Amino acid sequence: MLVVNIFQDEDKLSDELMRLDAKSNGIISGSFRDGTFSGKLCEVASFHRPVGLSANRLLLVGAGVKHDFNFEVACQLAGTAARHVHKTGIREIAFLMRGELSAERRGQSCIEGALLGILDMGKYKTRDSAKLALQSIVLLPSRTGEEKELERGAVRGRIYAEATNYARELVNEPSNILTPTRLAERTVALAKEFGMQVDVLGPEQLKQNELNALLCVGKGSHEPPQLCVVRYQGSDTQSAAVALVGKGLTFDSGGISLKDPDGMQYMKDDMAGGAAVLGAMRIIGELKPKINVLGIVAAAENLPGGGAQKPGDVVKAFNGKTIEIVNTDAEGRLVLADAISYAQHLGATRIVDLATLTGSCVIALGDITTGVMTNDEKWAGKVLEAARDAGEKMWLLPTFSEYRELIESEIADMTNIVNRKVAHSGVNPAGAIVGAMFLMEFAEGTSWVHLDIAGTAWNSRRIPYLAIGPTGVGVRTLASLILSVAKENA
Ligand code: BES
Ligand code: ZN
Ligand code: ZN
Repeated sequence: MLVVNIFQDEDKLSDELMRLDAKSNGIISGSFRDGTFSGKLCEVASFHRPVGLSANRLLLVGAGVKHDFNFEVACQLAGTAARHVHKTGIREIAFLMRGELSAERRGQSCIEGALLGILDMGKYKTRDSAKLALQSIVLLPSRTGEEKELERGAVRGRIYAEATNYARELVNEPSNILTPTRLAERTVALAKEFGMQVDVLGPEQLKQNELNALLCVGKGSHEPPQLCVVRYQGSDTQSAAVALVGKGLTFDSGGISLKDPDGMQYMKDDMAGGAAVLGAMRIIGELKPKINVLGIVAAAENLPGGGAQKPGDVVKAFNGKTIEIVNTDAEGRLVLADAISYAQHLGATRIVDLATLTGSCVIALGDITTGVMTNDEKWAGKVLEAARDAGEKMWLLPTFSEYRELIESEIADMTNIVNRKVAHSGVNPAGAIVGAMFLMEFAEGTSWVHLDIAGTAWNSRRIPYLAIGPTGVGVRTLASLILSVAKENA
């Protein structure tokens, strides 16, 4: 199947399209004219045995308006085409990706978008598991001599998509399969595969090291918490490392502050931050940039068992600060508090954390934009730039010092949610930012960016280019960030 993207505001058909149109007896111009195809974003029109073409089928994919075209859109078009083709049982597609992007980026988008598009989440279905139809993807140059560039992009697209899909499959695993211990085993396996060092701190070592904020979250579960540390040594100088820190709650019931059962099943995705870190480490392990990176996953299961922590408890974190637990459902910030301090203890001088941290972030930004919060706007600028490069939408939220008052505790250094006595209104104000203010207490002086992916880690829309379920958000942004920082250092 030959796949061609066509813009809605295509004023006149370009040379290559004119040739295709002429050869196929006017399929393209005809379908524009009779209204079967308008070029609207992700619209598809499929033609069987198009006369004059050697392809068995032709698929036109709407590319929207030219002005809005970018790498992210290109990936969506490729995903749309690949998902369409996959359903029809076609084995081979040839992409002619058109638009204002370098050949390398066009090549990358075709492979990345297609591989992300065709991953399905039906692993546990015993019947009707879709047979993988698509077997090969051919990239057609739109200019002569751009083959090498297309190919370079395609290689990067494959690496990025495979790592993102790896993270998505991890997030898709239910919590009875993927416990904190299993997640730690998967981390070890990944590190071994790519020749990276790995340490797992189980409950005993966590106790010895007094990582109590992580430990207290796991107290209500029979599954012990685990802190996974992957070390990628890409620079021989003992230069400071960038740490990628992920929230790894394999399930979040809320604990004693129990969640509403409606939708609680989705809380298996509360380790999406951790999965993104592992996905990124995979890309780093494969592309080997000259930089030192720590990948840290703070894994635990938040349940209301007999040993569970309770509202009112006070916990002393790894960095010595004390926390009054007001709501046991604000557990992500607890595990991250210790993971962030521990990253510094291991020599990290720049940190990015990713977490499905707050429902508030979903209310603020919805499910398409990741919330970005920081104590260093320059470092946040780098992360935002990497996100743009990766085709992921992220947006900065403020962390003005006044917000800190909201977590003042009467008896400890801070509360873990808004202290109602300090808040002015009956509602929980600025929930996503409050989460960040809490984490900032543990980043202390180190450059730190917090990504709240509560809304973006899961796709619940029927969209033409991605399955419902985990998105793997963050994997590609983190990888792009590390590659660009490594380039700067070189
Ligand atoms: N894992 C949740 C956040 C979440 C909510 C992720 C919805 C994905 C979708 C987190 O641990 C949590 O429960 N946060 C609380 C914080 C509150 C108690 C301050 C929340 O957002 O309700
Ligand atoms: Zn929670
Ligand atoms: Zn949570």
